[in-house]
Amino acid sequence: VRNLYLARHGQTEYNVMDRIGGDSSLTELGHKQAKALGEYFKGQEINYVFTSMKRRSRQTAQYVVDNMPNCTVIPLLEFDEIDAGVCENLRYAEIKEQYPDIALERSEDKYGYVYPKGEGYITLKERVDRGLKKALFLSGNAERVLIVGHQAINRMILSHFLFRRQEDVPYILVPQNSLFHIISTQQKKLFELVKFMD
Ligand code: G3H
Repeated sequence: VRNLYLARHGQTEYNVMDRIGGDSSLTELGHKQAKALGEYFKGQEINYVFTSMKRRSRQTAQYVVDNMPNCTVIPLLEFDEIDAGVCENLRYAEIKEQYPDIALERSEDKYGYVYPKGEGYITLKERVDRGLKKALFLSGNAERVLIVGHQAINRMILSHFLFRRQEDVPYILVPQNSLFHIISTQQKKLFELVKFMD
């Protein structure tokens, strides 16, 4: 892959409510963001788009592939958002109220903390690495590949390309109006953050 693009899904109903997990759909703004992402790629054919199995990721990708008849879309379970276990579908404020120990422990070691009955960044690594390997294998020497991921997933993918201390990875900013573009040449990897909407 020469050009790897990494985008996050557009804003969702859960994002607005500060709720985590679940499988909510894009909001009106989310659709606008996804449309702007699609417009950014107009005229530069993407060969493969990898999504998660979640609605928000697939809805976002749809705007990109709509006018690309030769693009292959592959949803991968490995790119599903971090499983927050007992905290799935809760607001961050509700987690603080109902599970103060979880909120505290996680704030002390966000990378190493594993949600009861769920995952943590530390356990996510293996699955995301597997997904990335799969995606790179399936797309072979394609010129342009896009992954439409999630906040935690994109942080883990980015940790391969950005030099960050492990404990800083769960705090990497993953905006919904920008994408990361990683260009691989024989000598080096170049990296740019592209804002596609205000
Ligand atoms: O839980 C879902 C979020 O997208 C990950 O965010 O690790 O910053 O809580 P967080």
